[in-house]
Amino acid sequence: MKVLVTGGAGFIGSNFIKMLIDGNELHVVNLDTLTYAGNLENLSSVEASKAYTFYKADISDHEEVCRIFEIERPEFVVNLAAESHVDRSILEPGIFVDTNIRGTMNLLEASKKYGIKRFLQVSTDEVYGSLGKTGYFTEDTPLAPNSPYSAAKAGADLICRSYQKTFGMDIVITRCSNNYGPYQFPEKLIPLMIFNAVNDKELPVYGDGMNIRDWIHVDDHCRGLISVLKNGRTGEIYNIGGKNERTNIDIVKTILEILEKDVSLIRYVKDRPGHDKRYAVNTDKINKELGWKPFVEFSQGLKDTVQWYLDNSEWVQHCISGDYRNYYRKNYENK
Ligand code: NAD
Ligand code: DAU
Repeated sequence: MKVLVTGGAGFIGSNFIKMLIDGNELHVVNLDTLTYAGNLENLSSVEASKAYTFYKADISDHEEVCRIFEIERPEFVVNLAAESHVDRSILEPGIFVDTNIRGTMNLLEASKKYGIKRFLQVSTDEVYGSLGKTGYFTEDTPLAPNSPYSAAKAGADLICRSYQKTFGMDIVITRCSNNYGPYQFPEKLIPLMIFNAVNDKELPVYGDGMNIRDWIHVDDHCRGLISVLKNGRTGEIYNIGGKNERTNIDIVKTILEILEKDVSLIRYVKDRPGHDKRYAVNTDKINKELGWKPFVEFSQGLKDTVQWYLDNSEWVQHCISGDYRNYYRKNYENK
């Protein structure tokens, strides 16, 4: 069985590919253009495996995508490639439309042309918008994205829906909440706060720090993707979440506690424009239909993640060199 994974050099993609190769007799083709977020170091443990092939290619390049499908003839496609950071989408939205929408459509076109068995679109709970104090996102919650990132992901979901309805393709969509774990690029809340705290830099908390996210360990998300790929019903959407709501300030203080650093490092800064207040995901459907549930307990998962970043400071140094510094300055200088 051959699976083409896009965005496999990123955070979730690299954890997903390692899980697929460790657990199965299948071949993984990784198609990734290696943006600032793509890092082949994440895959060093599998790069010599016969079960793994890598192509450096851009999903928004239709011809290149078709060339790879022609050579590899994958049976399954799992689309993780995306511009994934909300703050960057506020600074530069265009690339989010190119990659997340146009790129997804190119993959669907190639999948149609080469008759793949199943297409899994890895989406996000952010397409549902923002919750108030109560309630949960279900698969029937209307789409109401609030950032250029989530709007582009919602656009991709709708393109997928249309290919399923119009062309009868076997397409499934997952919508997961906030992931944490090893290999997450240090622009995202948890690794950014770990890195800044370790280096006694200020921890920039947006607004009042009371926004809520539902955190899930990346391994639990990857297990969910595998069960939907194998057993999800065609044309269906499956929410994935950690049943683990936390305010941002709670997360930041817990990281400081683990690292034995002082809360005086916290700095409340200007809020993210369009900042979604609360995400919380109802996961009854994937639980009842596929028996999936999250396993990693958050306080242990967070401690392990902090330890991973402490043990892999060289990896972090590679991420934060060059362009990342320019982005950091641009995003945080006027806050
Ligand atoms: P990431 O930014 O760490 O990785 C994205 C990967 O995609 C990188 O390797 C990058 O090089 C690659 N990529 C970007 N543009 C590309 C292009 N045009 N062609 C080919 N490859 C390209 O992202 P992540 O956090 O691992 O997220 C992966 C997917 O999961 C995304 O689709 C994201 O929307 C979705 N998702 C993420 C989370 C989360 O909490 N991180 C939660 C739910 C869903
Ligand atoms: O919900 C799933 C989504 O989770 C994914 O689709 C996205 O790809 C992923 O990036 C993530 O989006 P968020 O915007 O929720 O994640 P981020 O880590 O950027 O921010 C988490 C929360 O922390 C959010 O409320 C904003 C806040 N924050 C973030 C940063 C980077 C801060 O307070 N300060 C910061 O410096």
